[in-house]
Order: sequence, then structure tokens, then C-alpha cells
Amino acid sequence: MHAVVLVGGFGTRLRPLTLATPKPLLPIANLPLLERLMASLARGGVTDAVLSLGFKPEPFLLAFPSNVCAGVRLTYAVEDRPLDTAGAIGFAARQADIHKRGETFIVANGDVLTDLDIAALIKFHKSTGAQATIHLTPVEDPSQYGVVETDPQGRVLRFVEKPSPGETTSRNVNGGTYIFESSALERMPGVAPMSIERETFPDLVKDGQLFGYATPDYWIDAGRPDTYVRANIELLQRESIHEVEAISKGAQIAKSATMSHSVVGQNCKVGENCQIVRSVLLAGAIIDEGAVVVDSAVMGHVGSFARVNSCLIGIDGEIRSGAVLRDAKVPDAS
Ligand code: GDD
Ligand code: MG
Repeated sequence: MHAVVLVGGFGTRLRPLTLATPKPLLPIANLPLLERLMASLARGGVTDAVLSLGFKPEPFLLAFPSNVCAGVRLTYAVEDRPLDTAGAIGFAARQADIHKRGETFIVANGDVLTDLDIAALIKFHKSTGAQATIHLTPVEDPSQYGVVETDPQGRVLRFVEKPSPGETTSRNVNGGTYIFESSALERMPGVAPMSIERETFPDLVKDGQLFGYATPDYWIDAGRPDTYVRANIELLQRESIHEVEAISKGAQIAKSATMSHSVVGQNCKVGENCQIVRSVLLAGAIIDEGAVVVDSAVMGHVGSFARVNSCLIGIDGEIRSGAVLRDAKVPDAS
């Protein structure tokens, strides 16, 4: 089975981390997010995937030099300008000749981690005969997602992207994994920007051709600062990865430093008496003596005795000794 994986966004919410590394290549417990996503697609029967790229294609080509990721054969479709989600799918699917194969195919947002059983989603899709099926997941606050209302059989009655308060009472949101019949590509010419959430899904709803399949499986969109850090920490719990195994070889951690629920990438240095709590130290991060890092992701340098809480520190980020920071992005990249 073929898949289109959307990885061409700017990763704006994860700046400054994404100025150095595109969002799907950021590590989740020391393995690129895309590799974890691709492994779950492979489990669902995906053999071939086209990466729908725009912004920064080079790091993807370098990351998978043999054009294989988690056993899935990769091809690349590089946009010369951002085509938005439906434009990107239409363009990438044609680059990979999916439109000629006449087969059911999968689309996945490149920043989602889920235990969804993709084979079960495909089975449900086939049982309805619809042109498209969306995986749905329940959330407490749907304002950051595409909210979906269905009838009891799962037929989508309404799709509202990023609703305002009170616009809908549904808590089931678009989980970012879709099954399409190739006929749906007629709705996505792939030559100009088009949004799947704001144009194609509402169109499919009008024609009664869109179904939703809700599951209680683990699901997270790792594309926001808090969820990026949380996706890492939760993966340790979900896979029962021992604290020590979350520390890459080659990292230097002082004996007096304390680490809890945290991940440490290659060549990181953590000084004496540091406390690292529910945080992600990406490859090369340096934390000086006595610093305290909580609920944060760090690529750069945290000076001695600094206290950093709920922050993203980019590759050029320098936190001076003794500084106290909360909810900050360094360097400021908003
Ligand atoms: N190739 C390409 N070109 N990819 C793009 C473009 C583009 O112009 N714009 C966005 N993408 C990719 C992103 O890289 C990402 O993998 C995916 O499309 C979704 O974009 P996000 O920016 O992560 O969207 P979101 O998280 O705000 O919302 C989307 O995902 C939610 C679930 O995680 C929507 O699909 C929501 O409806 C959904 O609930
Ligand atoms: Mg997202």
C-alpha cells in the first residue's frame, strides 16, 4: 500500500528548534519522529511512501540516504511553493503515480504519534464504500484541531477546522491519518494551494463521501512546545524505557546530576548538581553546573545555576548563568 506523508510545513510553533531541524526529523526519545510514524504505517501494510516536502527538503534526503525508512521505500515530492495540505497531497500523489494505480491509499500528517491500528481503519473504510475516512481521536480542548461531527454510523456531518468557542460540541477531532480512494484525487488537482481541512473535507461532507473512525488509542500531535516534550516523556512510559536507556551513548552526565523522566541525546553534557526534569536534551545540548531544566527542550547551552521552565532553547540559544526563564523561546523566534 502507498502513503503520502505530509512533512512540508514550517514547524512554526516549534521554533527555534525547527530552524535547525524540520519538525518530522526532531527526535522522540532519540529516534526521529518520522521514523516512529513510518514504523506504524509499515505495521498497517504501507510499503511505499512519498514524502510531501517543501520547506527544507535537504535534511530529509540526508537522513535517509538509502531512501528507506523503517522498512518503507521512500520517494520525494518537493513543492516549489507551499501548496497547503490538499495541494500537497494532490501534487505528491501524482509525483508518485498513485493516481494511476487506482488503489486505496493512506495520508498521514508528519507530526502525529499514535497506536492506531491502521489495518482496522482501512477495514472500516472499505466497509462504508466512502471516498475518504478520517481517523478521529477524542480531546478535551478541540480548539487547536479539526473538529468532526458524525452520525452513529460514522458518516461525517460537519468538519470545522480550529473552531471558535461554542462553534461545536463535538470532542472528536481529526487525528491526521486518512484513507482515500484514488478517485478522491480528482478533488485535489495539486497545482495550487488548497486546504484539505477547509476545502476538500467540507466538499466530501456535502457529497456524503467522508466517514470518521474514532478510536481510544494513544494519540499526540507533537507539533506544539508542550506536546513535543510530552510526546518524548510519554514514549518512555509507553515503551517502558528505563531512565538509563533514555540517555544516548556519548552523553556526559555528572554523577551528582539528577535526571527524571527525561531524554538525553548524543554528545550532551550535563554538569554537577544539575536537575533535569521531564525534559528533552537534543544532541549536543550543554547544561552547566547547578542548572535546573524542567518541562523544556534544549538544543543549545544553559549556563550554570540557571533555571529554565517550559522553554524551547534552539541550537544558538544561550541562557546566561543564573538566569530564570519560564515559557520562553530562545533565541526568540516567534
Ligand atoms: N507539503 C506540505 N506543504 N506540507 C504541509 C503544508 C504545505 O504547504 N502545510 C502543512 N503541511 C504539513 C505539516 O508539515 C504537517 O505534517 C501537516 O501538514 C499538518 O500541518 P500542521 O501545521 O501540523 O497542522 P495542525 O497540527 O495545526 O492541524 C492539523 O493536524 C491536526 C491533528 O494533528 C489538521 O489536519 C487538523 O485538522 C488536525 O486535527
Ligand atoms: Mg500538527
